Amino acid sequence: MTDTSTDTAARCASGSGSGSRSRSDQLVFFVNGKKIVEEKADPETTLLTYLRRTLGLTGTKLGCAEGGCGACTVMLSRPQPPTGRVLHYAVNACLAPLCSLHLVAVTTVEGIGSVARKLHPVQERIARAHGSQCGFCTPGFVMSMYALLRNNPTPKMADLEEAFQGNLCRCTGYRPILEGFKSLTVDGGCCGGKGRNNGCCLANGSAAETSSQEVTDESACLFRAADFAPFDPTQEVIFPPELMSLITNQRPASLRFHGERATWLQPCSLHELVLLKWKHPDAKVVVGNTEVGIEVKFKNMLYPITLAPAFIPELNEVRHTEDGVLFGAACTLSHMGAVLREEVQTRPAHQTQVFLAVLEQLRWFAGLQIRNVAAIGGNIMTASPISDLNPVFMATGCKVELMDKDGSRVIPMDNAFFTGYRKTAVRPQEILVSIEIPYSKKNQFVSAFKQSARREDDISIVTAAMSVTFCHGDVVEDLKLSYGGMAATTAMASTTARSLLGRRWGEELLQGACRSLAKEMTLDPSAPGGMVTYRRTLTISLFYKFYLTVLQKLRDQGISVEAVQPNCLSAADLHHPETPSGVQVFQAMPKGQNDVVGRPMMHLSALKHATGEAVYCDDMPMYENELYLALVTSSKAHANILSIDSSLAETFPGVISCVFAADIPGSNATGPVYSDETILADRQVTCVGHIIGAVVADTQLHAQRAAKAVRVQYEELHPLVTIKEAIAAQSFYQGNGTIQDQPIRTLQRGDLEAGFKQADRVIEGEMHIGGQEHFYLETNVTLAVPRGEDGEMELFVSTQSASKTQSLVAKALGVPANRVQVRVKRMGGGFGGKETRTTVLSTVVAVAANKLKRPVRCMLDRDEDMLVTGGRHPFYGKYKVGFLKSGKVVALDVSYYSNVGNSMDLSLSIMERALFHMENSYSVANVRGRGFLCRTNLPTNTAFRGFGGPQGMMVAESWMNDVAQSLERPAHEVRRLNLYMEGESTPYNQILDQLTLDRCWDECLSRSGFHERRAAVDLYNRKNRWTKRGLAIVPTKFGISFTAAFLNQAGALVHIYTDGSVLLTHGGTEMGQGLHTKMVQVASRVLGIPCSKIHISETNTSTVPNTSPTAASASSDLNGAAVHNACETLHRRLEPYKSRNPKGSWEDWVKEAYFDRVNLSANGFYKTPDLGYDFDSNSGRVFNYFSYGVASSEVEIDCLTGAHKNLSTTIVMDVGHSLNPAIDIGQVEGGFMQGLGLFTIEELHYSPCGVLLTRGPGSYKIPAIGDIPTRLTVSLLRDAPNEKAIFSSKAVGEPPLFLAAANFFAIKDAVASARGESGLSGPFRFDSPASTERIRMACSDQFTHLCPPAEPGSFTPWSVQV
Ligand SMILES: Cc1cc2nc3c(=O)[nH]c(=O)nc-3n(C[C@H](O)[C@H](O)[C@H](O)COP(=O)(O)OP(=O)(O)OC[C@H]3O[C@@H](n4cnc5c(N)ncnc54)[C@H](O)[C@@H]3O)c2cc1C
Ligand code: FES
Ligand code: FES
Repeated sequence: MTDTSTDTAARCASGSGSGSRSRSDQLVFFVNGKKIVEEKADPETTLLTYLRRTLGLTGTKLGCAEGGCGACTVMLSRPQPPTGRVLHYAVNACLAPLCSLHLVAVTTVEGIGSVARKLHPVQERIARAHGSQCGFCTPGFVMSMYALLRNNPTPKMADLEEAFQGNLCRCTGYRPILEGFKSLTVDGGCCGGKGRNNGCCLANGSAAETSSQEVTDESACLFRAADFAPFDPTQEVIFPPELMSLITNQRPASLRFHGERATWLQPCSLHELVLLKWKHPDAKVVVGNTEVGIEVKFKNMLYPITLAPAFIPELNEVRHTEDGVLFGAACTLSHMGAVLREEVQTRPAHQTQVFLAVLEQLRWFAGLQIRNVAAIGGNIMTASPISDLNPVFMATGCKVELMDKDGSRVIPMDNAFFTGYRKTAVRPQEILVSIEIPYSKKNQFVSAFKQSARREDDISIVTAAMSVTFCHGDVVEDLKLSYGGMAATTAMASTTARSLLGRRWGEELLQGACRSLAKEMTLDPSAPGGMVTYRRTLTISLFYKFYLTVLQKLRDQGISVEAVQPNCLSAADLHHPETPSGVQVFQAMPKGQNDVVGRPMMHLSALKHATGEAVYCDDMPMYENELYLALVTSSKAHANILSIDSSLAETFPGVISCVFAADIPGSNATGPVYSDETILADRQVTCVGHIIGAVVADTQLHAQRAAKAVRVQYEELHPLVTIKEAIAAQSFYQGNGTIQDQPIRTLQRGDLEAGFKQADRVIEGEMHIGGQEHFYLETNVTLAVPRGEDGEMELFVSTQSASKTQSLVAKALGVPANRVQVRVKRMGGGFGGKETRTTVLSTVVAVAANKLKRPVRCMLDRDEDMLVTGGRHPFYGKYKVGFLKSGKVVALDVSYYSNVGNSMDLSLSIMERALFHMENSYSVANVRGRGFLCRTNLPTNTAFRGFGGPQGMMVAESWMNDVAQSLERPAHEVRRLNLYMEGESTPYNQILDQLTLDRCWDECLSRSGFHERRAAVDLYNRKNRWTKRGLAIVPTKFGISFTAAFLNQAGALVHIYTDGSVLLTHGGTEMGQGLHTKMVQVASRVLGIPCSKIHISETNTSTVPNTSPTAASASSDLNGAAVHNACETLHRRLEPYKSRNPKGSWEDWVKEAYFDRVNLSANGFYKTPDLGYDFDSNSGRVFNYFSYGVASSEVEIDCLTGAHKNLSTTIVMDVGHSLNPAIDIGQVEGGFMQGLGLFTIEELHYSPCGVLLTRGPGSYKIPAIGDIPTRLTVSLLRDAPNEKAIFSSKAVGEPPLFLAAANFFAIKDAVASARGESGLSGPFRFDSPASTERIRMACSDQFTHLCPPAEPGSFTPWSVQV
């Protein structure tokens, strides 16, 4: 190893710190026990890039590059001075600088087990418990769990939930992940029939406790925990002995690493650090890199010098002082949390009020991976106006020590500390050495609050800390109110605080405080972050919570203050998550059935997902001459392109070429249905994110850096961004290239006029449903490999539509489709987002590969993916509904407007599906639905699970709710009254047979204990003013078939090899939904062989051509029937050999047939019969059949903040005879959770100019583990065979998503109760998602009245409802 002992300050001051291009030190670290010596460590390289690109360890995934998804989780291990105890901790490899890893042991998912070698119990359990669908998040979960167990082999469920705060899964709904890992906790899990001290849940009935009837053929066990390999913590890999001896024998040494653009200096003493900072005042002081890493990656910042003080003892010390506890600035948040928890345990309660407030903020601060590396100093010095800790530090009089080469000073964190946006009173040459967090005093009360869109791992909307000290019992002696999110810095409400000094803690003080805060904590209506009125209201609401908390504590201390009204007590409760529990029930396999159809078989790739051995597109090894591509996209929503200048970009290191429209050999016109898009814009851009060109370079980093240097000059044109604007401009697509003021589709039945006349009452209403980002964990990726002759090109793509990719690439390249081969191994999630929009990338990559005649790869960064590829269509619905006094709806006139964006894509079919679902599950005799496609300057919106159906049904539920509210009747009764009955027909004249809605409804009512719950909810609401509960039950009816009839076809190709092994290919793609697993189950039954003999390698346009996209929930039906068809053919061919040799084996029959020259390869084909519908005549069959389901949910809202808890959900879903209950329940739960995101959390923000402001997990929140209903019951309806699909099954991918509307309407129910307290009754508009802001603002009360919104039109808002 290079001598790094020249570690003196002198060296630092003279050479090492100068940023001179002197030699780099060796970086020595261990990965999975193997020593790595890196001579050229680049400070700008992350651990993730190094693992994947340099070491080829692709098990660790890239999901976001911003620490927000956990897909990149690895474990770091380091002995801790002075004990030498090895600390293991999970970190995000995407943010960990490679240079920070000197003498650290890294463990990746490959290092703990493999299918080939031996599985680690953690890997086995997540897989066998069905906790892996697409598998892209799985290695991250595995490593979070593994790191937890390494530190604590007997964790509790609460530890698990904490460990997974930073891990996102978009497929499973989390429940099975928790269930699998529960078996590793002290809380235990399903014993799988083995029995425990308290007996077996299967035997003693607790698993079926919610069962409504005595059912003997019902199963509640999706996996057998008894089959799990035991977990033995003593068998874990040891800390590398060589590394231990290197660490033990090292002398403190400073290090330097020089990269292409930046230098990393790691001083080993405080003295050395301050000298370096003196010399390089602009240098970044990096500990966790959780802030700087984001700035470099997403804000294009370049920091030539980085100082890394993580190992300097003074910056890591924890010391007790007379006044409190002093933490070195490099102490991690996890460490600080551990120390403070200890303090709280051991000190008198009155001394630990400040510590408790810090701990409260830490509970919701990022995920564990971030807290494990992020430093206290980093949080303070970032000076973010929404820092969660700074308000506490300011409100409680913390002091910081600063140091430069001339000495140190101690200053308070008061009003003068933050001097401007991300600026502090710390001088550039100074470093922050420590912070002292004080003990609280007797008579001091401290609280901290954080309000964010999602409770876990989210940035604050408003964050606050409040501290009050009393004299003479309840007289305010000192008061500090500190807020984040209300100004460019953390801000103190000093005027209010001053005005309350000397006053008694009571109602009068409260009133004064609220009035004063409303005046003092103002915001410009255009303030960044938006939600201005809500944020202002929060400052008051949070103070009210503080007021109540303190009042209660004063009373508890025997001080004579006003009593807290009992109905207000719950307002002061802090949120404490409860461990979720779930029950899943399904029909047991009939006795005597031996094959695998109907068994809860594990996803066939699950084990490989869990070990990182499953190969996703970007995991493929690099070709030797491979290049990387980065996109150049428009920054304007609507503009003429005046010029494109790539000359500067072409001079950048590593750049090979730029690609623009002129490089397209074929046609630049593209689009999946209408050719109304460009591959590369040449004359005009019509959305922000419109692809203009690309830069191709030797590495991703080089390509991305250069792409940012391409200069485009625009002439701006007026953009249309919102549905409102499009309506005003009458900008509606007609499907024939024209824009007119007409609906594109009208679906009408009955006599509308007569219906409204018949009605006792007619009401009108409206609803907006926001869009949704797919957030598949694996972003779009394509690798294009020119084959060198005849224009052949092979593409590896993460797409749901291999054939569409093939045809559009062929068109772009000007070659016939037979020259383009598209291969899809698996996707890390799709959800409709990879049905057509994948081609926007694939065509560009193919054009570049064709131009350069070299393989070209591109995997979009998360922010690019979100910017470029569109999502679910926002919808606006306007309705008029006529109904009888009984609640029976007799007439409906509804208009849907969808925000389509800048090209048609699939929007027409999506609107059609919305119209086909406009009545949801309700029979309405006279109905008219009209669909308008709004052309706007947003990136085109596209398919998303449900395909317009959820938006269509959501509006239906809105008017159904309005009907109930205007009649003042319980909504569930009105819904039930209107529910379809067997034999009734839909507005498109399809008769409903084999209807199971009523069965699902009744089972849902009884399993959820709906009526008892209703009574309990009403009682709760009478007793509580500021928290309210809500309950709703919502049905769904989802039509199964592509509405474009020609797509309802599928092919399969099955080969039997002479050794008896079977290679199965079909037209569907695997995106986590378990399609391949189900297809193997089908083939296994038809061929009569075990699944282990059947293999599916990939989807390939060369084996099964002209495939329909894997979409519309129909892939199991279509491909299953095609597989069945092919296998039947083979079965028939083998039959003579079976009959001739009945005792022979499969292999014998295959061999005999082969020698007899029998064709052992067969293709299969299927088309759904009798489909085809005509809008003009409203005749023909749209759907093959319907999937039905009902969900009931109970929620609790905090009226003061808008936060909500999902208390309980019961789902009953008709999936026919399930092919695989584990997969189907996975789809139900995963779909439900995605719907929960759509209707309650996920919010895309666009600027008025059409710029997407939410481009990653930091700002766009999908449901996290804490959003699972505390109690989740899923029941697959029994005895409901569906004769119209393979083996009597039913489609399940999309239908359950809508059931999350039950949570939305439960929230609305709770809000209605809150409004009742303010004297508001009757229907009210409530848009989706039910965000914290919407909930709070709808609960109109005395606090919201203090903050009237600014006059619309008098300001430019930060974001607009699109
Ligand atoms: C996914 C994610 C979630 C997050 N969630 C939250 C959240 O919930 N709440 C919240 O408040 N923040 C959050 N953050 C922000 C961030 O994690 C914190 O601010 C963190 O504490 C920064 O610490 P760090 O060590 O990583 O800082 P770094 O990125 O290493 O450094 C940050 C800044 O501090 C300066 N600095 C660091 N130490 C010193 C020192 N000793 N002297 C002088 N300057 C110094 C650096 O020069 C740099 O400018 C989140 C970030 C991410 C990526
Ligand atoms: S890729 Fe690192 S957290 Fe998402
Ligand atoms: S399985 Fe978790 S993201 Fe797909």
